[in-house]
Amino acid sequence: MDDNSGSTAPCAGLRIGDAAPDFAARTTAGDIRLSDFRGRWLVLFSHPADFTPVCTSEFVALVRRSHEFDTRNCALMALSVDSLFSHFAWLRMIRDHFDVEVRFPIIEDPTMVIARGYGMVAPGDSDSAAVRTTFFIDPAGTIRAISCYPANVGRSIGEMLRTLDALQAVDDCAALAPADWQAGEPLLSQPLAALDDVYAAEAATEWFYRPGLRRGDK
Ligand code: BEZ
Repeated sequence: MDDNSGSTAPCAGLRIGDAAPDFAARTTAGDIRLSDFRGRWLVLFSHPADFTPVCTSEFVALVRRSHEFDTRNCALMALSVDSLFSHFAWLRMIRDHFDVEVRFPIIEDPTMVIARGYGMVAPGDSDSAAVRTTFFIDPAGTIRAISCYPANVGRSIGEMLRTLDALQAVDDCAALAPADWQAGEPLLSQPLAALDDVYAAEAATEWFYRPGLRRGDK
């Protein structure tokens, strides 16, 4: 994707492991390219519409925990079909009512070219108020996780942070993060991959279920 002028063909069907398609967009923080974020983690997320209750709650919650994204070297960037002036008016209202200033960029995507390219709306669907999609993009520009919620259920900021923690931790030591893993807890080691190890293991699970690895361990 080159820009958000509406002239670029969509490339939906993005998956974990794909390169995040680059684009240029007008945002509340000026003109931005996705590639400007190289070297940092990025949470790129869509919201159905400005001036809506669940979206407002998400933005307030994100700002209140934005320092926790900073400490993880992670930027935030939002997107909706609303115009830049709509975004400005909504942010002003959020500041006046909730006493929080949204400083992370919000993309205006009136033609939905970015939203369609990222699969944030169903192809051919003119109703942009369908999904809340979140892309976790690593410092090399690779999509590392994707989540999708309906318009009527807000996302968990805690789960976004936990996902980032887990992605960063498993990168550190080529480990695996088990269910409900939280930062600071032990990870799982990769399974042993030789039949001799399988037969030599004392317990039947010992060769593939290997808890106890600490972040930073080799
Ligand atoms: C909301 O953010 O509250 C919302 C947005 C679109 C449809 C339904 C709810």
